[in-house]
Formats: sequence, structure tokens, C-alpha cells
Amino acid sequence: MHIVVASTAGFCFGVNNAVKIVFDLAEKSEDKVYTFGPIIHNEQVVNKLQEHGILAINSPEQVSAPSKVVIRAHGVGPSVISEFEAKGIEVVNATCPYVEKMQRLVNKKYNEGYQIIIIGDKEHPEIIGITGWCNNTAYIIDSIEQVKTLPNIEKNICVVAQTTFIREKWEKIIDSLNKRFKNVLKFDTICNATDKRQSEADKISKEVDMVLVIGGENSSNTNKLFEICRANCPETYKIQTASDIPPVDIKKIKKIGITAGASTPDWVIKEVIHNMSELNKQDLEMSFADAFESS
Ligand code: F3S
Repeated sequence: MHIVVASTAGFCFGVNNAVKIVFDLAEKSEDKVYTFGPIIHNEQVVNKLQEHGILAINSPEQVSAPSKVVIRAHGVGPSVISEFEAKGIEVVNATCPYVEKMQRLVNKKYNEGYQIIIIGDKEHPEIIGITGWCNNTAYIIDSIEQVKTLPNIEKNICVVAQTTFIREKWEKIIDSLNKRFKNVLKFDTICNATDKRQSEADKISKEVDMVLVIGGENSSNTNKLFEICRANCPETYKIQTASDIPPVDIKKIKKIGITAGASTPDWVIKEVIHNMSELNKQDLEMSFADAFESS
């Protein structure tokens, strides 16, 4: 069995930066440190932080000064930052620079009078944060069908995408928006890291017999990777750690692909590769044993 590991698997630049900031604070901060929401969608990392006394909170009401709160890579709306600051809590902003750029853009276009449309998942923290930058007035859609449900919009429209949105879907929704409205200004805010990760997953999953997509249960970019790979390779499995690897009949699998979401730490990926290699070795050893027995 041949194992192909995606070169783009694992932490992206934004997540790496946020995780580094929190672990640095865990070592150096004299104040109590919190993260606003889990720093990334990964149980192992969140548990490690808990061991260092760093807890995730969901509301400014849960903390009091003096303390520090880290805003994760997804970012937040301006009112959240103001609420913490009003309580005298130090805000450490680990928002990914690409998300920050989109926040500034949405804020600028909103102030210029545009109606903001966000293409993404309305429940996702990044999108909840972005809407805060246009006073929660954005329409949020994630399918062509939802374009039909939008009201008539007289204003100029500014459209942005969740950084982890699937590009093909984005293009189709933009086409549909252009057919329905005349005045659409689009900004492709899909992150390059996501783009590369998704293209590589698409390519690998077309060439293998089985794909393992490693990532947290609630990780939106992992779910999208799974969606892309599953469309090409029915034997695609989403796993959180090596202990979730499904039972595999190694003899039927010639080539296996491994990819991982942006919030999957290296050590989890390495463990999965290691376990698959061990299975492979066992299979080789069994084949040798069979050969000797039959000779
Ligand atoms: Fe940032 Fe792109 Fe990662 S937007 S958090 S570098 S997926």
C-alpha cells in the first residue's frame, strides 16, 4: 500500500499564529488567560491548554480583570472587543490577518452604503464576527437556492466569502447573484491556503482507493475537505485522531490519501501516518510469512 500525504495538511498560517500566541501567553503571562471560544477546533489542543490553566469562555461576563482574553483566528465583531475592554480585560487579538482584512473591507463598504452579502455558514464564528463589522445587517447565504430567497435589493451590493468556502460553489453563487441583481461588486476572500488545500485534496482523492481526512468534529474546513474527497472517492473517512482509523482491508487498498484540516496539529497527522505505515508493515510481514509457509 502506498500512502500519499497532502503537503498542505495541517495548521495554516493563521491557526499556527493564534496557537503560538496562546502557548506563549501560557508560559509568560502573570494574569489569568482565557480564549474567546476554543482557540481551534481540535480537542487535543484545547485539552493541552486546559492543562496550562487556559480555559475557553463564551461571553465577556465569564471573566473579570485583571485577565487577558485571546481572540482566535476566526475573529469577532467590534462590540465583543469593546465589551471586554469596558471590563478592563486585556484583549490579545490573534485574528488571522486575512480575516482582519475582510473585516476592514466589509466595514468600509457598509459605511459607503453597500448592502453586504456573505457567502458562508451563518453559524460559523468567522461569519458571526464579520457580520458584526456591518452592524449585523448582512445577508448570509451558502447556496444558489438561497439567492432566490433574498429580498429585492436597491442598494449596491458587496459580496464576500467565508475564507474556507469552496471556490467552485462560490463561483456558481456569484453567477446566480449576477443574474438576479445588476449591481454586484464581488471580493473573492477565499483564503489561498484553503484553496491550495482543497485543490490538493481534490487531486489526491481522484488518484487513491481510500482517503483519511483528519480534523475536528466542528471544523468547517475539515468538513469541506471531506465533501470534496467523498465526491471523488467513496471510501473517504473523516477522523479526529489515529484511534478513529476505520478497519481497513489493506489487501484491497493500493493507494491511500491523507489530508487534514487547518486546525489539525502535526503530531495528530504523524500519528495517523505512523499507524497506517504500521498496518502496511504488518501486511508485508504477513505476506512474507505466507510466502515462507507455502514454500
Ligand atoms: Fe487565515 Fe486562511 Fe487559515 S484565512 S486562519 S490562513 S485558512
